[in-house]
Amino acid sequence: MDAYRVETRILNQISEVGSVADLVSQFCATHNLSNQLLVALSVSLDEALSNIIKYAYNDQHRHSIFVQLAYEPDAVAATVEDDGRPFDPLSAPGLDLASRDRDRGFGIHFIRNLMDDVKYFREGELNRLVMRKRIV
Ligand SMILES: Nc1ncnc2c1ncn2[C@@H]1O[C@H](COP(=O)(O)OP(=O)(O)OP(=O)(O)O)[C@@H](O)[C@H]1O
Ligand SMILES: [Mg+2]
Repeated sequence: MDAYRVETRILNQISEVGSVADLVSQFCATHNLSNQLLVALSVSLDEALSNIIKYAYNDQHRHSIFVQLAYEPDAVAATVEDDGRPFDPLSAPGLDLASRDRDRGFGIHFIRNLMDDVKYFREGELNRLVMRKRIV
């Protein structure tokens, strides 16, 4: 593994999400990436991982969630893989501002707005989410 591609695995516990934020900060510093990119990556990963930990599993077992950051020619790609229930965040209904529950439902909305390109794949038992932000 080189500095252009860094990976980690976390357990499905909220306390583990902070280590990914540290990885993102380090990665952005190494590649001299903008603060805007840092914020987009950290918020999107935080929301995606929190959702997986909160909603993806219907057992009490430990699960491992894979996270990768890749420096591409004109973008950074953040990939998240989990073995939770099949869930495509791109087919989730958009944010309903008229809804009475205005404190919820922002996670996926943030991801879609902060990132330039989001793709979802179901591969075997895995959900894979690939979120790209252009380097400007
Ligand atoms: N990985 C997932 N597996 C299964 N369901 C999910 C997953 N991620 C999100 N969901 C469902 O999609 C809904 C919307 O997610 P979103 O992150 O936008 O809002 P939220 O988590 O409810 O609230 P917030 O992120 O604002 O705290 C969730 O309430 C949940 O029902
Ligand atoms: Mg959420």
